[in-house]
Amino acid sequence: MAGVALKNLTKSFNKVTAVNSINLEIRDKEFMVLVGPSGCGKTTALRMIAGLEEATSGEIVIGDRVVNDVSPKDRDIAMVFQNYALYPHMSVYDNMSFGLRLKRTEGGGPWPFNSKRTFTEAEIDRRVQEAAEMLGLKPLLERKPKELSGGQRQRVALGRAIVREPKVFLMDEPLSNLDAKLRVQTRAELIKLHRRLGITTVYVTHDQVEAMTMGDRIAVMSNGIIQQCDKPLELYNHPANLFVAGFIGSPAMNFVPATVVETGGRLFIDCKSFKVVLPEALTAKAKPYVGKEVTFGIRPEDLYDSKVPTLVAATPDNTITVDVDVIEPLGNDVEMYLTIGGLQLIAMIDSGSSAKMGDKIDVLIDMTKSHLFDRETEQAIY
Ligand SMILES: Nc1ncnc2c1ncn2[C@@H]1O[C@H](COP(=O)(O)OP(=O)(O)OP(=O)(O)O)[C@@H](O)[C@H]1O
Ligand SMILES: [Mg+2]
Repeated sequence: MAGVALKNLTKSFNKVTAVNSINLEIRDKEFMVLVGPSGCGKTTALRMIAGLEEATSGEIVIGDRVVNDVSPKDRDIAMVFQNYALYPHMSVYDNMSFGLRLKRTEGGGPWPFNSKRTFTEAEIDRRVQEAAEMLGLKPLLERKPKELSGGQRQRVALGRAIVREPKVFLMDEPLSNLDAKLRVQTRAELIKLHRRLGITTVYVTHDQVEAMTMGDRIAVMSNGIIQQCDKPLELYNHPANLFVAGFIGSPAMNFVPATVVETGGRLFIDCKSFKVVLPEALTAKAKPYVGKEVTFGIRPEDLYDSKVPTLVAATPDNTITVDVDVIEPLGNDVEMYLTIGGLQLIAMIDSGSSAKMGDKIDVLIDMTKSHLFDRETEQAIY
């Protein structure tokens, strides 16, 4: 078992800095998710940990060993790629055991086959049977890949990595070619598997829902930089900046240009088309911004139809009157597109609401759940 540390890790391709001096400590047994939009440097970071890409500068530590100059096959990692390829002419069993067998031949094959270790037939069989049991592949061991569903093939690809019993798993969007239902299922299986094996895992995805549901911690990346690294709910409740606030959560947080104003000893967020009061607990942090331009943030789920009972107390200072443009029922909740003075807001309202398209309704804002960002630096004020 081993943790992984990235220290000022940078990768430049000619003029593109794909990964820009990132620092990240992945603890032993931790499931760390790297999440961010396309092109933000996730795969490049993972490939550097694997040793498939040389770092331009900085250090990669696995366990207590700096591995920058260690070849991929000696890093004791197993990587599952987005586009895994199974050998079509081999059975599931042979696909899973192939890497272990290769290790027996001196000089080995190409990465990821470590030529140093050799395995007896009994050891190979134990590992394949165990992995197959874990992944529900036991009845399928004699089949060829073309006789499997997409999800089963995906599990074989995982099995191939599991039998190597690596110190660290690296996974690059391993579920992306599964359909939505199977992705949710396999996601749950992967979490269970991680709990059982306790192998340190770095998991790359661009899907924030996947990140939120799977990660012990999540590192949110953008433009080659780690914007914030924390537990899922910490990221959700306390995003460090505008990027993280907009990236985590679906539908995304509403952002409104605003000014902080002080009236009668109380602080208000003036969004032009509406004005709301700041709760006492948040005034200290917002006070230095009085008179300044900020961005007000409120999640769709923190807006309430005033006619549906909630625990959020309605006052004239947290209630706004909006037009209901579009209603999309989702079951438990209703997604509503609201407008107020040319401003659009998205709200997730309890399905108990009787609001219809074209109505004017009163909406409560749970200000204790609101966010405020510095307009210039985009950093969170609270
Ligand atoms: N071999 C390369 N040569 C030049 N530029 C590269 C190379 N590999 C990646 N890049 C660039 O580095 C940046 C980061 O790429 P990377 O593949 O790490 O992104 P990603 O976060 O994995 O994106 P995606 O979600 O689309 O897979 C991109 O701008 C990409 O174009
Ligand atoms: Mg990628």
